[in-house]
Amino acid sequence: MKTIIEPFRIKSVEPIRVTTKEERGTLIQNAGYNLFNLHSDDVMIDLLTDSGTSAMSAAQWSGIMQGDESYAGSPSFYRFERAVKDLMPFKHVIPTHQGRAAEKILFTIAAGSGTKVPSNTHFDTTRANVEMAGAEPVDLVIAEGKQPESEHPFKGNMDLEALDTLLTAERERIPIVMLTITNNTGGGQPVSMENMRGVREICSRHKVPLFFDACRFAENAYLIKTREPGYAETSVPEIVREIFSLADGMTMSAKKDAFVNIGGWLALNDDDWAEQARNMLILTEGFPTYGGLAGRDLEAIAIGLQEIVDEDYLRYRMASMQYLGNALTQMGVPIVKPVGGHAVYIDARSLLPHIPPLSYPGQSLAVALYEEGGIRACEIGTVMFGKQADGSEKAAPLDLVRLAVPRRVYTQSHVDYVIECVENLVARKDELPGYRIEWQPRFLRHFTARFTQER
Ligand code: F0G
Repeated sequence: MKTIIEPFRIKSVEPIRVTTKEERGTLIQNAGYNLFNLHSDDVMIDLLTDSGTSAMSAAQWSGIMQGDESYAGSPSFYRFERAVKDLMPFKHVIPTHQGRAAEKILFTIAAGSGTKVPSNTHFDTTRANVEMAGAEPVDLVIAEGKQPESEHPFKGNMDLEALDTLLTAERERIPIVMLTITNNTGGGQPVSMENMRGVREICSRHKVPLFFDACRFAENAYLIKTREPGYAETSVPEIVREIFSLADGMTMSAKKDAFVNIGGWLALNDDDWAEQARNMLILTEGFPTYGGLAGRDLEAIAIGLQEIVDEDYLRYRMASMQYLGNALTQMGVPIVKPVGGHAVYIDARSLLPHIPPLSYPGQSLAVALYEEGGIRACEIGTVMFGKQADGSEKAAPLDLVRLAVPRRVYTQSHVDYVIECVENLVARKDELPGYRIEWQPRFLRHFTARFTQER
């Protein structure tokens, strides 16, 4: 069969409020042309993030009712721990309310003032938590990972030579090495098993612990299965176990590849670090058998972890990303290639060459997508990264717009609608205006800044 169906049917639905173009024009203007300021019931297709936006299954919802809310020793914790260890056999599993809480605990313990933490590419919260600990985040993704046009199948790979050189020169300053799977900031690009083994070998040789930021581990595993020679016949759970056998620990946002709306964990083998982590957990999150979560959340994660490694689901997930990416490519819209695991990234700077980077082509495209069809996407470019520490402004390396697809939420006709909206926009792309920032906060300006149109 050529048609790959959604391998689920719908039992419970949420209405989408249909708005007109005129209404949306007013709504986005009142929001200061910032999509984060919109009320989400004014959005028709919400592609702002794939995080915490999954649809849970009937099994997960029934798991919610099984949640045991005991303060200590809840059976829900042990079911959660067993489900994590089944795929990621680390000695200690410490639940947190989401991924960044696990990062905060890890870097407070592992990194300190004057240290450096290399990764392929740190995600924003990881970078911020490394910096909060007084350490310096270092991104060492391969050169192809920064080239939107490159069709390299594993653009999330770490530059092994650069990692080895850094560790040879500055081993005493590097307490831990991270690897983000898939590499979200680089376009949702996977890391190959071969590269992971290379990173492991270098870390072992220099005696540095290796941790995975593993939010989208199942998508990465499926892309290994379909893109890396030798894995076609290996099951996804086996690939997942092989991946985690290479690490000393992991941080996880269960809001991605565990199909839940809140949750995360820190898992690791080192007893001493685990004890320190649990001490911090009690201060900031909660008792070690619930962390920052309710027992019912732990049940939903345990079930979600079994569902996410289902190959029928992953085949459909990757096919639907490909479908969107191929349609955009066919109409000549430049995207980050090849299509990654959870999102399609439009290269707005190339699509809108009449808008210079400091007039925010990504913002312009994101606003236009909302006005045209009520679609909410996320600028990942000069608005997000352009403000320098000294307050000056510089073009980001790329101006992208991320269409992140929530898991099991939208059907093919929703995707067709998105494609048609982009098509309409492309026809009048030369008319799209640049933007100027009218007001911005000191940090993380993309969340709250207000804009005006340049024309
Ligand atoms: N690491 C990666 C690679 C992520 O993509 C995220 C979140 C986190 C860590 C933090 O996890 O949100 O549970 O605290 N990414 C979301 C996104 C927010 O939209 O890409 P969290």
